[in-house]
Amino acid sequence: MRIALELNGAQTSMDIEPQEFLLDVLRDDLSLTGAKRSCDTQVCGSCTVLVDGAPVSACSYLAAETDERVVTTIEGFRDTPAFEPIAAAFTRQAALQCGFCTPGMVLTIHALLEDGELTDEASIRRGLAGNLCRCTGYRAILDAVSEVVAARMAR
Ligand code: FES
Ligand code: FES
Repeated sequence: MRIALELNGAQTSMDIEPQEFLLDVLRDDLSLTGAKRSCDTQVCGSCTVLVDGAPVSACSYLAAETDERVVTTIEGFRDTPAFEPIAAAFTRQAALQCGFCTPGMVLTIHALLEDGELTDEASIRRGLAGNLCRCTGYRAILDAVSEVVAARMAR
């Protein structure tokens, strides 16, 4: 089947199999490898991308469902102004080690910020419950996101 979508700001059309998952299309067909495969069962969040601004687990999301929709991967998001404050806070707080979870984490944080769902540490913990990190112990991530939230609230 043929689908047409906006991918990272560009109109894109491609032929896919109806049963193909979005993560396979992104990584294998389009070489967009920022979304990572870990659990492959919609548990860890490392494969997170945005569809119409909402985070989805690309490992378990049919590519066919993106027809006529807007898909943003970390490769597209890093070229937007919203990327820099999150990236800078992650750098300042040393909120990543191997970085495997980070693209999904950053896109989820962005979506939650846009929805106004992050206000304090409890809301950050709730919001990021579906994004697992095996390296950092989460403290630095919580500090980085708290920093971004505080900066937005101070505006
Ligand atoms: S690889 Fe998709 S949620 Fe873990
Ligand atoms: S930084 Fe390694 S999994 Fe999060």
